[in-house]
Amino acid sequence: IKRITTHQLQEMKNRGEKIAMLTAYDYSMAKIIDGAGIDIVLVGDSASNVMAGYETTLPITLDQMIYHAASVVRAVKRALVIVDLPFGTYQGSSVEALRSSIRIMKESGAHGVKLEGGSEVKDSIERILSAGIPVMGHLGLTPQSIYKFGTYTVRAKEEAEAKKLFDDAKLLQECGCFGVVLEKIPAALAKQVSQSLVIPTIGIGAGPDADGQVLVMQDMLGITKEFKPRFLRRYADLHTVITDAVAKYITDIKAKDFPNEDEKY
Ligand code: KIV
Ligand code: NA
Repeated sequence: IKRITTHQLQEMKNRGEKIAMLTAYDYSMAKIIDGAGIDIVLVGDSASNVMAGYETTLPITLDQMIYHAASVVRAVKRALVIVDLPFGTYQGSSVEALRSSIRIMKESGAHGVKLEGGSEVKDSIERILSAGIPVMGHLGLTPQSIYKFGTYTVRAKEEAEAKKLFDDAKLLQECGCFGVVLEKIPAALAKQVSQSLVIPTIGIGAGPDADGQVLVMQDMLGITKEFKPRFLRRYADLHTVITDAVAKYITDIKAKDFPNEDEKY
């Protein structure tokens, strides 16, 4: 199978083909979504919430991200695998940002990194790119800044924040990022940014005019059933499927129905 590259993503935008991206944190699920034809697999730091049960994305470590990423890379044959740089591994020092990114690339075999922010992290982005590592930006609701925002509600509704987001998007493109995630911003702003940039935008809660869409896999499969923001479309109800399967398994054991004659040696 032919591997998706950052160049192919650019070509997809150029010809108006939308880009499909999902998160994965482990081998088994990554293998399924890659087989289904997903374009980009994001090893998101949302693993901190979804896999580890933390309230925010801040606690997850670089070593933990590399463990998740290496597991995903072993499964994926076609998709581009992008890994989030976790909180505290790229801000402030571009040297540390490059060192963190090199660790991700060498130890997991992933194809690029993603980081949150615009002008604040320009030096880090440039230094990572100087090593030939593809970088994806992430603007709007950037969950690593949750204690600055105070809430997970939609960002850039006000003129000043929208202007900064637009300028940051342009800056990320000028730096050489191959794409940018736009999280939870007004659809009109996402449309304006997507039309102004040459590089692809990938939206989550950013309306239909981004050049691609991303969701957390466990959210769209209905595993995280308490989480129901407006932007989330559920494509399955795995919470119910799993609960029913496990209940049946328990019932069968208690009833001495499992294992049966055919299921023993
Ligand atoms: O960590 C994550 O899952 C993400 C996506 C929601 C874009 O950054
Ligand atoms: Na993330």
